[in-house]
Amino acid sequence: MITANPFSLLSVYIPSIFMQLFVILMVILLLAGTIFDMINKKNVKYFFENAKKAKKQAKKELSSSERASVVLKTVTHEILTTSELGKGKRRIAHLLGMYGTIIFWITSIIMIFSLSKTNSSNLTIYPILWHIGALMTCLGGYWFWFFLRVDVSSEAHPWYRIVQADLFVLSLVITSTFALLWSFFQSSELVLLGNLFFVLFCLANIILFGGVYWSKFAHMFYKPGAAIQRNLAEADGSRDNLPEPSDQPKQFGLGIKREAPKHY
Ligand code: HEM
Repeated sequence: MITANPFSLLSVYIPSIFMQLFVILMVILLLAGTIFDMINKKNVKYFFENAKKAKKQAKKELSSSERASVVLKTVTHEILTTSELGKGKRRIAHLLGMYGTIIFWITSIIMIFSLSKTNSSNLTIYPILWHIGALMTCLGGYWFWFFLRVDVSSEAHPWYRIVQADLFVLSLVITSTFALLWSFFQSSELVLLGNLFFVLFCLANIILFGGVYWSKFAHMFYKPGAAIQRNLAEADGSRDNLPEPSDQPKQFGLGIKREAPKHY
């Protein structure tokens, strides 16, 4: 199963052009959802106004090479490693989900768009990576969903309580789960089950990409932008209009040591 290209097996019934159009439709849904989100929630407008206001407080003008170095350091040290999630399980689960999803999307695009080119679609490395990507997403996503979600780990809600904020993580893991089940049943030649999970895989993708406006999908664009702005503000001394940290010793009393902070 892991070496079989599921899109290649499917192309016997569905012409590759339809699969390519589906991918393009998902990209359009993603762009439309993000743009609509930016216009309606005005978060990007606030972000730029705040950055402009902070710039007036800047203590030094950064040269372009200094700016480039801050951006590069943020990308390599923070964004690609999601360092804001600290050192624990939360970060490992996120890295599994993030890189799993990126590998899954890239290999899906490569396999779908090279179906008509005889040699490239036969390479087994892409199906292997596609299955590994889906497995990593499931591992990170279900770990987060069952054990690490703030509602479950800190607010003692049961794992099966679903709210709108769960739309992203749920549609993400369910898409990968259906992809794996579709591939499994298709390679086992259980046609009916294979077709059922293929339809469910398509529906899950429509919910994932069509739900961008209502879900946390766009955090993957906003978070990097906010991290870059925060570090630029640190470097030019404007500090996002926040006061400098105090140089006085921390005095919170002994109570703060009794329990690790986990009630948000
Ligand atoms: C393909 C890229 C990415 C995927 C698939 C992804 C996936 C996820 C998922 C499924 C969640 C859980 C959402 C929830 O709270 O229900 C999440 C949360 C989060 N993501 Fe991402 N993410 C991506 C990129 C990024 C990037 C680039 C950053 C930061 C630079 C980032 C930072 C975060 C943070 C801080 C959280 C909150 C985690 C928590 O509450 O424990 N993510 N992400």
